[in-house]
Amino acid sequence: MSLDSVAVAARTVFGDRIDQAEAYVELLRVHGVERGLIGPREVDRLWERHVLNSAVIGERVPKGARVVDVGSGAGLPGVPLAIARPDLDIVLLEPMARRVEWLAEVADKLDLPITIVRGRAEERQVRADLGGADVVTARAVAPLAKLAGWCLPLARPEGILLALKGASAAEEIERDRDAVRRSGGGTPELFEVGTGVLEVPSLVVVIPRLPAPARRKGKK
Ligand SMILES: C[S@@+](CC[C@H](N)C(=O)[O-])C[C@H]1O[C@@H](n2cnc3c(N)ncnc32)[C@H](O)[C@@H]1O
Repeated sequence: MSLDSVAVAARTVFGDRIDQAEAYVELLRVHGVERGLIGPREVDRLWERHVLNSAVIGERVPKGARVVDVGSGAGLPGVPLAIARPDLDIVLLEPMARRVEWLAEVADKLDLPITIVRGRAEERQVRADLGGADVVTARAVAPLAKLAGWCLPLARPEGILLALKGASAAEEIERDRDAVRRSGGGTPELFEVGTGVLEVPSLVVVIPRLPAPARRKGKK
């Protein structure tokens, strides 16, 4: 994308919160590599490959939803989503202490009302504390089968897992469909988000958490 088209897309996605998005990109640019949060080759494509690509999943997130972002790392997709969608109640879940520290600094510097929790999605205490979310998001955390096992228990029945995936998304769906069902998920569906905004739209796999009786049937 040209610099101009990135600027237009950023305005479209972040509206009058563009300053917060710029501040986040600047933090990533200046500190992301030295703190091992992003690869050196990513610095020149932070907007299109990371920040905008993450924020557009907001198209699949209902208004006012409670969201848990599993494995936020540098803050993706949770931080761009929180900037683009101030109506959401967002928790960033991350097990690594240094990343948790970074996320707390980002929230503080951007004055973002997000909650940061240190832990792993599959931990009993994490499930007890964060379960019942409307939406669970994840990007570059694990293959779909594992992700479903970790993330669906954090969603309320009929809540959804939104997994941002790359070009192999359709193959992953085919390969992991049965495992997803065994973890209590419904049929995974693949959507493009960011169409008309990004040169290359993002791919998101949407998996609903089935209500309890349907989950039991899926286990047979
Ligand atoms: C490759 S990074 C991706 C980070 C970020 N989501 C992104 O797209 O840049 C994977 C992240 O998932 C976290 N992670 C790994 N296993 C996890 C688990 N079981 N529960 C929560 N987070 C996990 C790691 O600590 C790491 O920060």
